[in-house]
Amino acid sequence: MSAQEPDRQMRRSTLLKHTGKPSSPGAKPVNPPLVRASTVLFDSLQELHEASARPFQGLYYGRFGTPTHEALAHALNALSGAAGSVFYPSGLAAIAGTLLSLVEAGDEILVADCVYGPTRNFCTQDLARLGVRTRFFSATEGGQIAAQFSADTRLVFCESPGSLTMELQDLPAICAAANARDIPVLVDNTWATPLHAPVLAMGAAVDIQAGTKYLTGHADVMLGAALCRDDVLERVRRRSQSLGYCVSADDAYLALRGLRTLDVRLRTHAHNARVLKDWLRDQPEVRRILDPADPAHPQHALWQRDFSGANGLFSVEFEPLSPARLAAFADSLSLFGLGYSWGGYESLCLPFDVRGQREGTDWSDCGTCVRFHAGLEDPEDLLADLAHALAALRAV
Ligand SMILES: Cc1ncc(COP(=O)(O)O)c(C=O)c1O
Repeated sequence: MSAQEPDRQMRRSTLLKHTGKPSSPGAKPVNPPLVRASTVLFDSLQELHEASARPFQGLYYGRFGTPTHEALAHALNALSGAAGSVFYPSGLAAIAGTLLSLVEAGDEILVADCVYGPTRNFCTQDLARLGVRTRFFSATEGGQIAAQFSADTRLVFCESPGSLTMELQDLPAICAAANARDIPVLVDNTWATPLHAPVLAMGAAVDIQAGTKYLTGHADVMLGAALCRDDVLERVRRRSQSLGYCVSADDAYLALRGLRTLDVRLRTHAHNARVLKDWLRDQPEVRRILDPADPAHPQHALWQRDFSGANGLFSVEFEPLSPARLAAFADSLSLFGLGYSWGGYESLCLPFDVRGQREGTDWSDCGTCVRFHAGLEDPEDLLADLAHALAALRAV
């Protein structure tokens, strides 16, 4: 396996193009090779024993990764400042696997009220079954979280912004309070990616990425990653191995390829989203836009302080729409697909309802909520699609 050069100081757009490449001398392709493996062969018994003694360094067995995974890890570590990256077969597996690494029966964890639904379910159902209690804290929490720590609090889990309702937590303040008590903070940072929110530098212990979204960017890869600070890395790595998590070399390769254009894609997603939001805001059926990158968002100043860029994902609260009007709108879209997930090159629309899924905020009198993902199409075409769908809604 070829050694990777440490990355020199460079701007992050440049880093994304040059990190995670083999530095071996001589003619070579631009991209590192795709290395698929289950069994790895050794030249001698001694070599096999040596590899067994340090399975996370170099080639050992396919589940521990190949040079393709190593190249992706190298790039993500360089981008995020992580000591190491652990890969999982999905974003949810990265969340579940990281949580399982850091808790034991009798522990309590504090979780932001706005987390992704399956994260919430994993905590309240699966962790509860193992004797781990979950308490939810406000989706807009800050340093006051210290008042909620108990002797049993083992970790804090944030998702900022919450990927449906788009509230921000004050991550530096939460991390400062938690780190003062040696409580690791995990952040589902899928929305911003380490490119736009360096959560490890803010004090988090793990930056969790659903690589299904912007990292890979083409809606064709299942992958998750835990980008870890050094004090939690070994625990996360070993638990991931004991649970048998791994990722195909093909998907790791596609993730590294996706990373090369992350900055360019995010810029265009953000531009297209801005065009759509500016138009939607003026439509009589729209009550408000939910997006911290939007100047009208109540936490926009916090977003400006902690994030260096936006993207294509935002939500809209419409006036309450009858099921027939909502269906007329959704079914009349042709460029916006109806479907779960986000972060690919394509535009998406997903009606959602968080009533009954929040403890700290009252959504009982909210209107009809729809999450949009502005893809990389021409924004004028996307606007025309939305206008056509709104006309269909008005005709009902
Ligand atoms: C914020 C967030 N985190 C995690 C996930 C889970 O990712 P995956 O679908 O790869 O399991 C999602 C998926 O939509 C998400 O939106």
